[in-house]
Amino acid sequence: MHLTNSAGIESRTTPLAPVRSAMAEALAFPGLLSKIVRNLIESWPDAVYREPLVEGRFLGRRTTYVCDPALIRQLLVDEADGLLREDFMLRALCPALGQGILTADGARWRTQRQAVAPMFRHDRIAHFVPAMEAALSATRERLRQGDRRVDLLDEMMRATFAIMGATMLSDEPGLDVEAFGRALTDYLDQVSWKIAVTMLGAPAWTPHPGYLRGRRAARTLRSMIGETIAARRRSGRDGADLLGLMLSVRNPEGGAAMSDEALVDNLLTFVAAGHETTALAMAWTFRLLAEHPGIEARVLDEIAAAGAGAAEALPYTRQVVMETMRLYPPAPLIVRQTLRPIRLGGTTLPAGRSVHVPIYAVHRHKALWTSPEVFDPDRFGSAASAGRDKYGYLPFGAGPRICIGMSFALTECVTILRMLLPVFRFEVGPGRRPEARFKVSLRPHGGMPMRVVPRAMQ
Ligand code: HEM
Repeated sequence: MHLTNSAGIESRTTPLAPVRSAMAEALAFPGLLSKIVRNLIESWPDAVYREPLVEGRFLGRRTTYVCDPALIRQLLVDEADGLLREDFMLRALCPALGQGILTADGARWRTQRQAVAPMFRHDRIAHFVPAMEAALSATRERLRQGDRRVDLLDEMMRATFAIMGATMLSDEPGLDVEAFGRALTDYLDQVSWKIAVTMLGAPAWTPHPGYLRGRRAARTLRSMIGETIAARRRSGRDGADLLGLMLSVRNPEGGAAMSDEALVDNLLTFVAAGHETTALAMAWTFRLLAEHPGIEARVLDEIAAAGAGAAEALPYTRQVVMETMRLYPPAPLIVRQTLRPIRLGGTTLPAGRSVHVPIYAVHRHKALWTSPEVFDPDRFGSAASAGRDKYGYLPFGAGPRICIGMSFALTECVTILRMLLPVFRFEVGPGRRPEARFKVSLRPHGGMPMRVVPRAMQ
């Protein structure tokens, strides 16, 4: 089949061989199964880094990888109502997140999205900055305790968790960052197995490594959030925060409140999706800045020149965050299933096709980026980005399911840099940059070990 990408480049994709059963494929290619479990990104065909559209099989299922910006737009924006969440992602996430805004489809998704939208209106975001700064003062105090080695990912998880607590829950007491973080890591550590087991056609209860720990973790996460909701109800506070908003939502038809289960689903989704992704973006950013002192110096100059409280006026700092998320998108893959036949370029995908937008590969695609492996924040300067198709850069997804927290997250990232970088130097040891592994999010394998040196001590 011949295909043409938005840049007019024609390529040929291999016609599909007859579908074999997932199990037969797993037996024929045991290496593939271990790649999926170790790091799903390694199981992608090489062509996703070169071609506009790639057809292949992913453990027995016909899968279409969409890598061209014009086709991505067509899929996620124009044809959005013909897409559903993919089974394997649902099986991976639903035991913890239930039917919340991230995992629901159709009317259920729409009602939940509309209910929380006022919280994330662009003009509200600036109001969150003082709470972000207050939470980061605590991070500063913790890091100021001298010259020491830390897992910076862990530190960023604590910082972004505190920010979520302060901005979305008005610091409702009782959410323990350590316990929450441990449970979330335990849960995410076994999702690759869940994905592999689903793809093999095995039922949801099939045991796999980490199965029991994952179940326990999901229970812990849900009961912690449930306890937070109960504490708010006991306190009688209404709260102008996300929790208060969700407690006050009424169904437009019958006037019913959100069920307790729906409240847990959504609050857990927000706390988990909202803090982990941003922490990952920041851990990778500090690592890349430590490797590129010239770029770090430009950020420091910009922050010093802008003075206090000028998040909006830090364009280069923002470019650094964007370039980091090009190389290390915290959410590296968007997956959907077609609900009806969908036309993409010159081809038609049948109903039931698994469609992957491999964001990590699109961000390193040879037809879209010059020297894709090089960290260069100037790519996002206004001159360099003029004329670039915006659907080739998707750290927050696209279309109606675009990340609802996008503006919040970008403001948060810039605030974190503004608050921490002038105060600390984050240094790397002699080791190599950690490997990025797919755990639904893109996590540095082994964490992000760095040395924190207060600048005054240099
Ligand atoms: C750097 C940080 C972040 C990144 C890279 C990120 C990335 C994403 C992506 C790619 C999606 C779309 C997934 C899909 O289409 O399947 C998404 C959805 C979502 N994000 Fe984020 N996110 C970030 C921060 C946040 C924050 C701070 C919040 C909340 C405060 C948040 C809440 C959500 C929610 C609720 C959804 C589901 C939206 C829906 O399906 O309607 N995210 N995020």
